[in-house]
Amino acid sequence: MAANERQSIHGQWSSRWAFVLAATGSAVGLGNIWKFPYITGENGGGAFVLVYLVCIAVVGIPIMIAEVMIGRRGRQSPINTMRLLAREEGRHPAWQYLGWAGVLAGFLILSYYSVIAGWALAYVFRAGSGMFTGASADEIGGLFEELVSSPERLLAWHTIFMVMTMIVVSRGVRSGLESAVRLLMPSLFVLLVVLVGYAMNTGAFLDGIRFLFEPDFSKLSGESVLIAMGHAFFTLSLGMGAIMIYGSYMPQYASIAKTSFMIAGADTVVALLAGMAIFPIVFANGLEPGAGPGLIFQTLPLAFGHMPAGALFGLLFFVLLTFAAWSSAISLIEPAVTWLVENRGFSRVSACMWSGLATWLLGLGTIFSFNVWSDWTLFGKTFFDLLDFLTANIMLPLGGLFIAIFAGWILSRKASQEELAMARVWYDVWRFLVRYITPVAVVVVFLNAIGVIG
Ligand code: PHE
Repeated sequence: MAANERQSIHGQWSSRWAFVLAATGSAVGLGNIWKFPYITGENGGGAFVLVYLVCIAVVGIPIMIAEVMIGRRGRQSPINTMRLLAREEGRHPAWQYLGWAGVLAGFLILSYYSVIAGWALAYVFRAGSGMFTGASADEIGGLFEELVSSPERLLAWHTIFMVMTMIVVSRGVRSGLESAVRLLMPSLFVLLVVLVGYAMNTGAFLDGIRFLFEPDFSKLSGESVLIAMGHAFFTLSLGMGAIMIYGSYMPQYASIAKTSFMIAGADTVVALLAGMAIFPIVFANGLEPGAGPGLIFQTLPLAFGHMPAGALFGLLFFVLLTFAAWSSAISLIEPAVTWLVENRGFSRVSACMWSGLATWLLGLGTIFSFNVWSDWTLFGKTFFDLLDFLTANIMLPLGGLFIAIFAGWILSRKASQEELAMARVWYDVWRFLVRYITPVAVVVVFLNAIGVIG
């Protein structure tokens, strides 16, 4: 059978749009609304945002095209796809380890992602109960502390979120997901615009905008550049096989480049809107932009506590944030689940149970790192910080680097040209980027961060 006639045994998206929605669902998540603002705050604002945007364009989009392409060409779990395509090109089967590294990264990320998604879930009820109405910044901060200092509560929410995730994955990511994302993504977008509207009236809107968009390069360290690049991978779900497995369900006629641009565009707009909503609130209330992972939970409730119908908006916002996290979480575990089904003869349901259980267990480490283990640090980082740093700033960029090398150097020109089916000039631009620019950029950022150059 010709490579472009292969079908995935796990199914196919119903249309090109279904792929765009699902991949946007994977990309838009806590990374955009929770992580982007807080790491921007910690890394000094504008210059960091600029580096992040450059990384999306130069590194993120070419790798997204490469990853979708590899996935659709192989139409199997990332591990088997890498092995199959390497074999077809007469290359070493060791390329399958790229798939393994991705499975590991997805597992590590989901273990803490679920804990943070649990915070969002907890805030649905907090916002809905009117707890924030009229509350001061101090009170809002205290409420956040109260949540994260309680291992029992974090455990309860983490468990609920993991169960929700595994239920969707066990049914197959295609059923239910498409329609959920179709409705919820636009709603999330509208609510973010409402929040930006609120931020315009805080009196500190321009301070927020300046913080986000006025680059001050003296605030940018080698490590900040690495974090910005790592975030470009994280926010686009790249470098670990999530986008690859979603690509493997993509219909053959759909354009990979066009859809990749749409996904990256939507993802970037959501992150920038979140930043524009949050930083004015930070400055208007004399809060600390570098407050860390609690940033959105210490700022947005202030907005909900003071705007008309704030309890309703707050409730809606955290519901939508939970959904956004949910549609990302399922893509983190899908590569592992498909491998268990393909190679170990698991049913989808038992594959979900076992991988979910393992992820849930590891999540305990993150839960404790916010309370009982908060004093335990390595290189000044807690267990959660370490996991986050290792996955987002090392594993994903390395995975992406090898995906670019595979797409640019290992896969034949004929194969990638056939799969991408785009105009010759654009194809040449893409190929030049993944062969030279993208790998060099990733390596330079790494070397710069460890102080070898720069
Ligand atoms: N892109 C998701 C987010 O921004 C997180 C994610 C990373 C999902 C890697 C899948 C793979 O929240």
